[in-house]
Amino acid sequence: MKLLRVWPACLLLLTVVSCSKGPEPKDKALEAKVEKLLSQMTLEEKIGQMNQISSFGNIEDMSVIIKKGEIGSILNEVDPLRVNALQRVAVEESRLGIPLLIARDVIHGFKTIFPIPLGQAASFNPEVAEEGARVAAIEASSVGVRWTFAPMIDIARDPRWGRIAEGCGEDTYLTSVMGAAMVRGFQGDSLSDPTSIAACPKHFVGYGAAEGGRDYNSTFIPERLMRNVYLPPFEAAARAGAATYMTSFNDNDGIPSTGNAFILKEVLRKEWGFDGIVVTDWASATEMISHGFAADPKEAALRSVNAGVDMEMVSYSFVRNLPELIKEGKVKQSTIDDAVRNILRIKFRLGLFDNPYLDEKKPSVLYAESHLAAAKKAAVESAILLKNDNHTLPLTSKVKTVAIVGPLADAPYEQMGTWVFDGEKAHTQTPLHAIREMYGDRVQVIYEPGLAYSRDKNTTNIIKAAAAAARADVVLAFVGEESILSGEAHCLADLNLVGAQSELIAAVAKTGKPVVTVVMAGRPLTIGKEVDLSAAVLYNFHPGTMGGPAIADLLFGAAVPSGKTPVTFPKMVGQIPMYYAHNNTGRPAARTETLIDDIPVEAGQTSLGNTSFYLDAGFDPLFPFGYGLSYTTFEYSNIQLSSATLNKNDVLAVTFDLQNTGTYPATEIVQLYIQDKVGSVTRPVKELKRFTRVALEPGEKKAVTLELPVSELAFYNIDMIKTVEPGDFGLWVAGDSQTGEELVFKVID
Ligand code: NOJ
Repeated sequence: MKLLRVWPACLLLLTVVSCSKGPEPKDKALEAKVEKLLSQMTLEEKIGQMNQISSFGNIEDMSVIIKKGEIGSILNEVDPLRVNALQRVAVEESRLGIPLLIARDVIHGFKTIFPIPLGQAASFNPEVAEEGARVAAIEASSVGVRWTFAPMIDIARDPRWGRIAEGCGEDTYLTSVMGAAMVRGFQGDSLSDPTSIAACPKHFVGYGAAEGGRDYNSTFIPERLMRNVYLPPFEAAARAGAATYMTSFNDNDGIPSTGNAFILKEVLRKEWGFDGIVVTDWASATEMISHGFAADPKEAALRSVNAGVDMEMVSYSFVRNLPELIKEGKVKQSTIDDAVRNILRIKFRLGLFDNPYLDEKKPSVLYAESHLAAAKKAAVESAILLKNDNHTLPLTSKVKTVAIVGPLADAPYEQMGTWVFDGEKAHTQTPLHAIREMYGDRVQVIYEPGLAYSRDKNTTNIIKAAAAAARADVVLAFVGEESILSGEAHCLADLNLVGAQSELIAAVAKTGKPVVTVVMAGRPLTIGKEVDLSAAVLYNFHPGTMGGPAIADLLFGAAVPSGKTPVTFPKMVGQIPMYYAHNNTGRPAARTETLIDDIPVEAGQTSLGNTSFYLDAGFDPLFPFGYGLSYTTFEYSNIQLSSATLNKNDVLAVTFDLQNTGTYPATEIVQLYIQDKVGSVTRPVKELKRFTRVALEPGEKKAVTLELPVSELAFYNIDMIKTVEPGDFGLWVAGDSQTGEELVFKVID
């Protein structure tokens, strides 16, 4: 089955801009239908469209309110027979026959679960993201879901925040590219295709900057940072044609997003021309009461609707209060009409009026072979090799016996990760199962988990795992996090391995056998100690249904790791927030600083110098952004710029040779970073501007060109104007954010 459309412009220039389809152009005939229907609606029916409920189980009870036109959308309904039954009530028994929009959180797969979005981001491959979303859309739409609350494109620079799992990590450009790809995948060629589902970029906006990495917490993002870092992925999603947006739970600088007219009206509607639905997050309208931004549900409805929200998720403050607010003149009739126009427009674009029902006789597409194959490919490309001393991986034929230990080796539920309302563990293939099945004829497997689950503190069985390690040639230790430890509301203050997993790694390492630590987790963990004890480390953000076969192929060399860290791995929690694209201080770390264990007793106050670092952690992370090894090595050479001086309309072409200097066919993720040396405001020390995957046979050398329009060097300057400022720039082409030789160029007016 062909899942992907080809976007030649995308492949050529690798730009968000060239990949974008843009909002659907206004279709006059469709707008006329919207106006005609709107003119027939009573105020109650209009307000009903603005109401989204969560399915409450009883068709008869729901039918009563559907018939009266009091519901526009139902969330969490996934039984195709029930979907059709409810839709029949809306279409055939309500006065105007307006179809329902059925919604569900389909974030990284419906039944076939793909790696969590943070894992997909590690592939640096928009095709993985697009294909994953396409598969999710095909499966979800087959049961009647036509709206998903994804992609989650919150920039997250704090791994304590459990929801870092759901997004594409810390980088604005990577998140923009991957998020736009997901929008295209969910929505397909046209929203009216029955396999398309409306995307909902979320959470608009700034949610990932929750203070202290504690979910729902306040954020304090000034407008320039908002525009330079947090908004661009949402703008890219709008350009990719996203049909809906969701407001976020957080208050930013005192204003909850659900009541923030600036971001909803000024930015989203006026600046970006968005004409689809803005929905609240779950009860985020009435949560403005807890925030202290509204006194009661009536004021919550008032502030949300007047800020530009069209639909309320589950908290009923709109249906209960808007009639009175209109009577009192506090909400204008025209505001309601605009909201309903947005909702009807998307329902028309989805083709729901022409084609409201599901074909119940269609054969199931759930867990289709092609879907499982795509999920496996995604898991392979998402895995990151963090360490590989002495070519421990891939395992060669010399390895006759492997000890498989650790609580994540055979944990089908856990490896699916967060957001798996519909994924089933019975369909999930674990590494233990896959290694036995796929490589059982090559190696003898001794399985001793040592711990029952990741948080298990009972060390009794660790001795058995160590005994197994002693009998094996290599130890494969599967550790990490259960899925419940990341995701919404699941934040951590300590990012070391939970339970007795560190003790387990220490015990198996003590045998002297090479330990390959395979991590499955929802976030970067502070695993420096375990990295030191391991010969090799393969990191997988929860890899989903096909994680087992993907990891098995990577361990045994049928696949070669190519993933790169989409987020910085700190050494210690105290270093957080930590991200590569930080601004420089006036006293940057020199990396020659004396650290805590080397400071002489009674050292003089100023004897250590004065730079920006931690006495106990230094300056550098455990692993930087964009980092990841391969079984081969790559050499960059002959890096050249098309010109050392450019003007604002030019396109900079960066050419270089990339050679595979090792013995495995492999793919390198090439990254292009720039630094704007001096600005009207300080600029990040590095910013990712391009990336591409280059596949090379052993010994093969390819000439690669990356093109970067100078216009993409623009940022919001001292006057809050988006512009390219003339001056000097640094440029690096490398395999991660910390290496590579600097080249320079100049932009002139
Ligand atoms: C709350 C979450 O914040 C949001 O991401 C999700 O889509 C809604 N609940 C609906 O389940």
